[in-house]
Amino acid sequence: MSSKIGMIDSGMGGLLVLKACVEAHPECDFVFVGDQLHAPYGEHDAEKIFHYVTVIMEYFASLHIYDIIIGCNTICANILPQLRARFSRFRFFEIIDPTVAQLPRGVHRHLAVLSTEATAKTHAYKNAIQHFDPAIAVQEIACPEFVPLIEGNASAARLTQAVKKRLKDVTCDGVVLACTHYPYLREAIAACLHVPVYDSNQAIVNRYPWPVSHKQEKGSVTIYSTLDGEQMEKQIASLLKQDWKVKTLILDF
Ligand code: DGL
Repeated sequence: MSSKIGMIDSGMGGLLVLKACVEAHPECDFVFVGDQLHAPYGEHDAEKIFHYVTVIMEYFASLHIYDIIIGCNTICANILPQLRARFSRFRFFEIIDPTVAQLPRGVHRHLAVLSTEATAKTHAYKNAIQHFDPAIAVQEIACPEFVPLIEGNASAARLTQAVKKRLKDVTCDGVVLACTHYPYLREAIAACLHVPVYDSNQAIVNRYPWPVSHKQEKGSVTIYSTLDGEQMEKQIASLLKQDWKVKTLILDF
């Protein structure tokens, strides 16, 4: 079994999760697969998402990687029990519970949860938040236009315009970014709603059981896109300001 940590998302969102993990634990080795070929996952039903993710998990198994951080709320909300049942050898680390568990207690009374359509439909966040604190009212807001804009490298002005349009009637005292792509919109969302904004990045860093390591040297970061590695490399340079290399991964979906 490899000591590498696998990570998955449909694309650029999970790379923010990866960045947070690499910053916190540079000594670890990471392998990230961004399934840009099938992004956005939020437009697919659970059956399709399960199919795509299964093929990617089999790829991880071929590398002997069995520890997986799921950097995608849509996967967590829709297919986590099926994934755990199908891949019993894997340890899956999901992000919904840690994202909710980081909320400050007794502070919020009305949270807006922004997510993909596929996540909103499951009410996974509403259920998790009301389990955390039944006194919190939760407004679930699907934002299907956000991921295509981010994946399509839309300008900051275009992103701000989309955020303003989507959030114009929202009143809340806190907002949860229940899609790992949305932290790219954090400033626009905060400027629009003027409330605290929570995402999954630090939450999963705090939750993952990092191995104790005395390694001095840096670990490796291997990144694949199922669509176009060169293109993702450019997206990473422009959005994340990292010079990470990306390979194209051709899988038999
Ligand atoms: N970033 C993912 C999420 O957290 C998937 C977004 C998408 O591909 O629709 O839900």
